[in-house]
Amino acid sequence: MGQFTAIVATGILLLLVVASCTTQPSPSGGDLFAANCASCHGRYAEGDGPAGAAMARAIPDLRYLAANNGGVFPRGRLEDVIDGRAFVKAHGDREMPVWGEAFATLSGPTRSAQARAAANIHALVDYLATIQKD
Ligand code: HEC
Repeated sequence: MGQFTAIVATGILLLLVVASCTTQPSPSGGDLFAANCASCHGRYAEGDGPAGAAMARAIPDLRYLAANNGGVFPRGRLEDVIDGRAFVKAHGDREMPVWGEAFATLSGPTRSAQARAAANIHALVDYLATIQKD
């Protein structure tokens, strides 16, 4: 009987944890893109955002990431490029903001802030995967 009660209690606890995580819905990749990326990359990721014109480097068209990679969507590389922290350490210069830093800074230097930054980057890459063209 005691074991049964423990199992039920664990179940309730898990539900509470899940519920507390879902009370703050994370934004969708499409919403994140519109809010953070469209200014440079354009509303439809074609590379024609208004702020992009001021960049020294050409803004890549993000609809051909798979096509330019032999038809394979380069998910891992894109997560690294968008996060940017490893990239900056390795290559130094870049014009695009370092989103891993930016998303984490918005919510403070906690572990959950880092997790949220990673979740945002995942959602963005998932969104980019849906807009690929041949
Ligand atoms: C201030 C302008 C600017 C903003 C805002 C911006 N980018 Fe970029 N992005 C660039 C530029 C410029 C490049 C070309 C590489 C470089 O010079 O940094 C680039 C490159 C990229 C690449 C690399 C493509 C490849 O083939 O390597 C990806 C992916 C990307 N951006 C995604 C995003 C996402 C997702 C966001 C929003 C979270 C975003 N960018 C916001 C300017 C921007």
